[in-house]
Amino acid sequence: MALEDAVRRLLELPRGEQPAEVERIRRAHPAPSAEAWNTRFGPGSLYEAWARTTVMEGLYHANAAWLRDLLDDRPGWRVLEVGGGDGTLWARTLRPDDRGEIWLVDPLPEVHARVAAHLPAGVRLVPLETGIEHPDRLGPRGLPAADAVIVSLALHHVPGADAVERDRHGLPGAGKAEVLVALRSALLPRDGEGVLNEADVFCDLALPAGDPILVDRILDSYVRRAGLSLLHDLGRRTDADDDLRAGWRALLRRWCLDQVDAARAPLADRDVYELDVPRWLALLDAAGLEVTEHAFTDRYGLFHRYRFRPRTG
Ligand SMILES: C[S@@+](CC[C@H](N)C(=O)[O-])C[C@H]1O[C@@H](n2cnc3c(N)ncnc32)[C@H](O)[C@@H]1O
Repeated sequence: MALEDAVRRLLELPRGEQPAEVERIRRAHPAPSAEAWNTRFGPGSLYEAWARTTVMEGLYHANAAWLRDLLDDRPGWRVLEVGGGDGTLWARTLRPDDRGEIWLVDPLPEVHARVAAHLPAGVRLVPLETGIEHPDRLGPRGLPAADAVIVSLALHHVPGADAVERDRHGLPGAGKAEVLVALRSALLPRDGEGVLNEADVFCDLALPAGDPILVDRILDSYVRRAGLSLLHDLGRRTDADDDLRAGWRALLRRWCLDQVDAARAPLADRDVYELDVPRWLALLDAAGLEVTEHAFTDRYGLFHRYRFRPRTG
């Protein structure tokens, strides 16, 4: 049975039977690539194919439209981005005559190079090569005052709602709440606005490795929603050539089905520590950020977008 048919059949099974079926499909269909999530971003990478999926296009479209309006209103703008990926957002947003500054926090040198490759001559990139949860490694200036902050699918890499929860699990340093407070401080001086994109699923530290609920939540996001969207892209997108379709098939097998392994990884190595919509709303509020709108950017209910600004008074 072809991979797509096997995944289609899997999605028809009762939820409780799906984890065993995922393992059966993984055995029957060896992964065509060993590439792990977020390890390569250049031409021919799985990320390149991921950035062309319908769910990602929906997200880039919403973010680019918001940023474009904001940049047009603020000549000499400065944007703080957390987690740059392959820079597709900037390719969709910027014009050749734009002038401004992008401060990018991302631990991977390749990401800084990819983002830089999309910038017109008048836009300066200030690379901060570290994880956002390490404020001490940002350099002497720390985070800059910014007109806009964009954090798209990056904050789920930071384990724990806050430093207290991290500490309970033996992890030092800042959690998501402390990062949001720091982003609020960056927005305050210029009366800026921010956008956060994250999947709507709970798989943070409260669920220990191997917990069946954690397996179910990971499957919910990576297979029932992302997997289904990939099946639809493979079946319906007439703009995809053979290379792109091969990339999507590899994503379905390697990034969706294999992601179940994250549920069994030691806590500190899980790499995905997502929150669902109510928890993100509570966290943004507690950080002093007013959510001015929030909605899914795709019809699979996968990625949710929160637009926010510092609450004052
Ligand atoms: C799924 S990609 C999203 C990229 C891009 N924002 C997009 O929407 O296409 C996650 C990005 O976050 C970066 N990242 C991973 N851990 C991070 C951390 N602790 N702090 C900041 N960025 C991180 C990765 O290197 C990668 O560029």
